[in-house]
Amino acid sequence: MDASAPAPFSTLIRTASHEQHAEAENSSFMSDMLGGRLGVAAYRRYTEQLWFVYRALESASGALAADPVAGPFIRPELARTPQLARDLAHLGGPRWDAGLEPLPATATYAARIAECARTWPAGYVAHHYTRYLGDLSGGQIIRGTAERTWGFARKGDGVRFYVFERIGNPAAFKREYRALLDALPVDELEKQRVVEECRRAFALNTAVFHELGRQFPLSA
Ligand code: HEM
Repeated sequence: MDASAPAPFSTLIRTASHEQHAEAENSSFMSDMLGGRLGVAAYRRYTEQLWFVYRALESASGALAADPVAGPFIRPELARTPQLARDLAHLGGPRWDAGLEPLPATATYAARIAECARTWPAGYVAHHYTRYLGDLSGGQIIRGTAERTWGFARKGDGVRFYVFERIGNPAAFKREYRALLDALPVDELEKQRVVEECRRAFALNTAVFHELGRQFPLSA
């Protein structure tokens, strides 16, 4: 192997967001929620925020499906909004979405995704990566904790968001996904911008956690 060859883009994007990953993971809201110190109301509020985020990601799928940069990433088996709707109906009843509003940080996050989807497909890829590859990885830890803490049926209503029924082998899927990242048809400068957008995506997630933390302030 050529030692001077640049690292694959999938490695670059992962290492570039490493610190921010730790920050998101260790935010007091996440720690309290996953440490079993918060009630199901906090989990519901968190899941509601995901609804707005995934609606922004997935309402753009149709328009981007044929895009040469973002299109290859759009896979129907990743879609999460139907599962979120089921989880939220379980958590909030059939009228779960009546009057539902995002937190300000969530609105900002969803607006940025929508903006990228409209104007910058490679930026959309940064947001796509940050959410879906995370859900396929650490999301599985969150599911187990949620099942134990709030008594949801294993892989059932309440945690369907974390269950990718049509992805039999998540490790293989992630490998394919990383190969797509490595083959992203953009130049080096644009790749740098995508890495920056990925950092921004992490920061937008952390901002949502901070607002949730203020609503459910156990660690304070
Ligand atoms: C408590 C919460 C979290 C836990 C326990 C967690 C845990 C993990 C774990 C164990 C991995 C696998 C690492 C590897 O394969 O080397 C991972 C990967 C990942 N996580 Fe998280 N995570 C959490 C929160 C988040 C958040 C909030 C985001 C961003 C929205 C995120 C985004 C990612 C991404 C993008 C990857 C894939 C990295 C890659 O392989 O390229 N995670 N996470």
